[in-house]
Parts: sequence; C-alpha cells; structure tokens
Amino acid sequence: MTDTIAFSPTVRGAIRDGVLLVTIDNPPVNASGAEVRAGLLAAARHAAGEAALRAVVIRGAGSAFVGGADIREFGKPAAEPALPLVLAALEDLEKPVVAAVNGVALGGGCEIALACHLRLAVPGARFGLPEVKLGIIPGAGGTQRLPRLVGIPTAVEMIATGRILGAAEAAALGIADRLVEGDLEAEAIRAALDLVGRPPRRTGSLPVPPAAEDAVEAAAAKALARSRGQAAPAEAVRVVRLAGTLPLADGMAEERATFVRLRDSAEAAALRHVFFAERAAAKVSGLEGVSPRKVETIGVVGTGLMGSGIAVAALDAGYRVIGVEQTAEAAARGRERIDGLLARAVKSGRLDEAGRADRLARLDVTAEAGALAAADLVVEAVFDDLAVKTELFVRLDGIVRPDCILATNTSYLDPDTIAAATAHPERVVGLHFFSPANVMRLVEVVRCARTAPDVLATGLAVARRLGKLPIVCGVCEGFIGNRVFSAYRRQAEFLVEDGASPQAVDAALEAWGFAMGPFAVFDMAGLEIAWAKRKRAAATRDPRARYVAIPDRLCEAGRFGQKTGRGWYSYRDGKREVDPETEALIAAARAEKGIVPRSFTADEIVATLLAAMANEGARLLEEGIAVRASDIDLVMINGYGFPAHKGGPMFQADRTGLPVLLARLEAMAAADGPGSEPSRLLRERATRGDGFMDGNG
Ligand code: 3HC
Repeated sequence: MTDTIAFSPTVRGAIRDGVLLVTIDNPPVNASGAEVRAGLLAAARHAAGEAALRAVVIRGAGSAFVGGADIREFGKPAAEPALPLVLAALEDLEKPVVAAVNGVALGGGCEIALACHLRLAVPGARFGLPEVKLGIIPGAGGTQRLPRLVGIPTAVEMIATGRILGAAEAAALGIADRLVEGDLEAEAIRAALDLVGRPPRRTGSLPVPPAAEDAVEAAAAKALARSRGQAAPAEAVRVVRLAGTLPLADGMAEERATFVRLRDSAEAAALRHVFFAERAAAKVSGLEGVSPRKVETIGVVGTGLMGSGIAVAALDAGYRVIGVEQTAEAAARGRERIDGLLARAVKSGRLDEAGRADRLARLDVTAEAGALAAADLVVEAVFDDLAVKTELFVRLDGIVRPDCILATNTSYLDPDTIAAATAHPERVVGLHFFSPANVMRLVEVVRCARTAPDVLATGLAVARRLGKLPIVCGVCEGFIGNRVFSAYRRQAEFLVEDGASPQAVDAALEAWGFAMGPFAVFDMAGLEIAWAKRKRAAATRDPRARYVAIPDRLCEAGRFGQKTGRGWYSYRDGKREVDPETEALIAAARAEKGIVPRSFTADEIVATLLAAMANEGARLLEEGIAVRASDIDLVMINGYGFPAHKGGPMFQADRTGLPVLLARLEAMAAADGPGSEPSRLLRERATRGDGFMDGNG
C-alpha cells in the first residue's frame, strides 16, 4: 500500500515497506532551491515523528539526483531554511537515511548525499563539489564532511579544483558506498531496512583520516597553481584544512561564513554570469524545432597545424576522419602529425594505447580528394587565402554528396564570398576553430547569408560533440573574437605610444587576472603575420586614422617575437626580459610624432583596454554580428585568455556603464553628423584625453 505525502511543491514522500521514499522533483536538475530545502526538512521531521517509519531513502526524479543549490537564488536575499540546517536534521535522524544517487550529485546535491548514512549510486552517477567554478566554496558541510570520507589531501584536490568524479572513482574513494546496476530504488529500500536497529554511520561524526602535512601542502599547491589569483580555491583549501582541527560545528560555521562572503563577491557574480552565458549561447533563434543532420564522417582538407588539431578533436569525439592533402607525401606527413598529437596524449596519460589505436583505425589521410564522397561534413583548413579557399569549395561541389555540409575555418576572409562561388551556398557554414584546435574550447560558428537552418544546427551539434563551446556569429572581418582582439591590440599600442611601457601594460593586465598581457601574447604568437597584413592593407588605410608604427619597426629590426628570441621583449632561456633596444625604438617613435610620454596607473591601463574591447563589442552588437553581449564575453574568455572570474569585457562594461554609453554616443554621432551634439561631446571627451576614445580606432 502506498501513501503520497507532499512535503513541499517539489518534494514528495511515499511509504514502501515502512521506508519513507523521498523524491526531489524540481526540473530541470532538481536544484536545492528554497522549496526543496523546506520539503526535505519537513520530510526529516515527518520521519522522526512517525514511529511506523523505519528508514528514509532520498532520490531525485528524472535523470539527476540534485544538480546543486539553485544558482538563480544567489544574489537575492537568502530564503529559510538554509541547507546546513536541513542536512543536520537528516544526519541526526536515529533512523537510517540512504541516498539513492540516480544521476548528478553536484554541489549542494553532493552535500545532501554526504549527510546521508549510506550512499548507493547508479554507474552513470557523478559526484563533485564544483562551487569554486562559481567563485564560492561549498556552503552545506561539503568542506567538513568530504575530508572525513576521503582525507584532507583528496578533499583539497576535489574542492579547490571543482573536479567532478564518475561513479566508479567515487566508489573507489568511498564517497559512494556501493554501485547498483539494477533497480536502484528497490536496492536502496532493501539497504535501508538492513541498517534498521544499527547505529547510524554519520559522516560528520567520523574522524578525519590522518594525512602527512607534505601531502596536504602538495595537494594545495597543485590545486592553486592554475587559480590565477581567484579567491575561492584558496579559501576552499583553508576551510577544508580546518576539518582536521575543528569540531564539525565550528568547521561548518566557518565554512558558511566564507560561503556567504564569497557568494556576495564580484568574482562570484562574474562566474555566475559565465555559467548562465554558456547556457544562453546554446539557444539560437531560428533553430527552434530544427534537427541537425546526422554526421559520422568528417573530412578535413589540409592537415597542417590547424587541420591536424581539428582531426584529433574529431577522432576524440568518435567520428571517422578523412584527411585530404595535395600529394601522397603531404598526406603521409599529415598522418604523422595527427599521430604525433595522439602519441603526446598517450605520453601525458590522457589517452591509452588502445584509445590511440582505435582513433588511428578511424583515420584515413589521402591525396585522393574523391575519398570525401563518404563525408557528411567537410572542414577546410587550408591557407587563409580567398582564391585558394574558393577554388577548393568549387572543386568540393563536384566531389561530395549533395547533403554534405561544407565548413570553412577562415579567420579573416568573407565566407559569403566563398559560399557564393559554390553551387549550394545554403550548405556552407563557418567553423572557426582556435589553435591548437584539439585543446581550445571555443568555436565561432559563422552563420553566412545563405546558411540553411539545419546546416547551422549541424555545425553547432558537431562542435558540441567535439566538446567545444560553439558561439554563433554573423559575417564580418575577424568575426567576434578577432574584431575585439584587434581593438584591444590597437589600444595597447596607443598606450605604449602615449607613454606606458609594454611591461607596465602587461603587468597591469596580469595583476588583474589575464594569464598573459598583450605584448607577451604578441611575442608568443609572432609579429610577422600581423606585419604582412598591415603591409597589404597600407594602400587602403584611412590616412586620418591613428597608426602606431612601433610594431613595424620591431619587425624591420628582425624582432618577430619569441621564435627569434626578440620581439617586444628579449628572451633568454625562454624568460622574457625588458630590452633597451625596444625601449629606444619606442622613444624614437614617440619623438617622431612629438608625443610627450605621460604616465598611466595600472588601473587606468586596465580600464582603457577594457573599454576598447567593450566598445568594439557594442559595435558588434549594433551590427548584429553578435546576438548577445554575453556571447562576446564567452568568446574572449574561451579564445583569448580573458579571465573568467572577471566575467568578460561586456560584463565589466555593464558594471561600469561608461564604455557602452560611449559606443551608443558614437552611433548617434555617426547618424547625426559632425555638427551634432553627440559629435561635440565626443570631441570634447577626446581632447580631455582620458583614453576611452582612442579605443575606437
Ligand atoms: N541552479 C539553477 N539552474 C541550474 C542549475 C543550478 N544549480 N544547474 C543547471 N541549471 C539549469 C541551467 O541553467 C539550464 O537552464 P535553461 O535550460 O533554462 O538554460 C538547465 O538547468 C539545464 O542545464 P544544462 O544545460 O547545464 O544541462 P546539462 O544536463 O548539460 O548539465 C548539470 C546538468 C551537470 C547539473 C549542469 O547544469 C551543471 O553543472 N550545473 C551546475 C552545477 C553546480 O555548479 N552546482 C553547484 C551549485 S553551488 C552549490 O551547490 C552551493 C552549495 O554548496 C550550498
């Protein structure tokens, strides 16, 4: 006989064999929002008060257990009851409480499971405390209960990095007590009944396994090595360590205070923005109800640096890959390059030999373009030249099946021009990968003028299966990323010409959170490609536009960046050093233009560069190249090293307001002409020389 009890709108109970089966039903991921917390507390009290109930089992409805706290509640006043109180009520029950982990148990969801007396899980379950990725630490006992199960070093590693574990690893570590292949619910009820009458195994009462200080230090150092000055990972380490010395209640009080402080920080707000931005980017207008085409075989034309990276990404995702080169020798080299990348993955432990063999069995590299007749999608990664790419696409028209999609990986060329030359422009889409393509997460998916909706949907689906973050953009030179990056580059050069040193610019941005400042990045990428581009564009450049000649002078002096040992900096043993020759060259360029160098504070440098990026971003929005500001943020974070914990240039602009307002003013000035009020305001601002206008190029 089954009774259903509504503990709250999202938590219900049913009684099976004297066991209270509690179901959390809060789609899409059963987040532990206020109603879930209230429901769980009511369930715990009900179980405590009903003598006939012998045990409790907690499960999630649908495919998730609990995906964590409801992130949408952060930033709003906290609603009672708080999760720690709810979990204390569950853990303190005298009756067995079993977690039936039927899917993801993340953040608060993992903490619910940790507070139960036994954890059973399906083989597809995942466990983790990914709070640091949202700029916070666990707030409901995760930092204090997890170390009692796995020891402080492992807890430090998991919580400070936010790593998510599969069920097998969770079971090996003792986070899950047992994996259940069959009927989880029935097994959990049986296990709960088995525990009746025995003292509950409360995680919070377990002793923390002893750990050598060296091991804790090593785990902390490793976890923090990549945290780039973010607050949450270091706080996670500090609070997890307290578990070793403080009683549970004191450790939990410090955890909660830290959680609340971080939850209200700018860093957490930025990372929440990134979380929701990624989900928003997946929603593309015009694709509602459109199904992607089936893709199993991907052709890659050109197996150089970019093409081989794309091929590896496709092989990793389980596709068959046909690489095409112009000659048999080039094809052999391409295959070697691809295998070289796989071998490197084996060497670093990311792949095993069986995985490598499986990938190579799905790879064919040939000089016979006719092999592409078997492809469902062909990506070209040949030399970025309009004639070369157009000629290739026209040739492909005669080779591939009528339903095959043609994707161009151009960075700067107009894909509409390439598409227009083909017989079926509606099957052409841009897939702009970033190098190394098997590592970088960003792919700009370019919606060309004639791209068919299902072709665009397929581009997105393939990019997602490759494990990438696809961002849709329209056609313009440089798409989203390179347009914004060019504005940033230009502004960085203006700053140097106006008086800042390259090292001061780099130091300001690195202290703010960038892994590398712009001049270090230019040196790493090499200066010669941009130089060649500038030479090509010289004849058509607007002579009134401000032009900084310093990069040309560096190239003329053979300073092409790291690969030549000298660029903006000089490099000894790979270490960058300030070079007097560069300083002299900069001084000469300033003198030539009669510029008296002024000084810039680090704050000014950062604000000026952020404004340049945001202004360009605002322009991309106005032109319809980017459909939402948060897409621009994701591009800069995932393709150009913008620190995620700062939310992206548009997020920053929104917080300050100024740059975006300026971009609007510019648009009005452009529409109303030079005599208009907006134009006058802009001129006035420019003569005040506060830097923002320079970003507009
Ligand atoms: N709160 C609110 N909404 C959430 C959410 C959460 N914790 N997790 C996911 N969602 C929403 C998403 O925004 C999305 O909404 P939309 O459809 O309106 O865009 C929807 O759920 C589906 O999400 P995904 O597209 O990401 O679905 P997937 O199936 O790919 O992934 C997931 C599911 C693995 C649960 C993934 O969403 C995820 O990683 N979520 C965040 C997990 C997390 O960080 N939890 C910790 C929260 S902080 C915390 O718990 C503090 C605690 O210590 C007190």
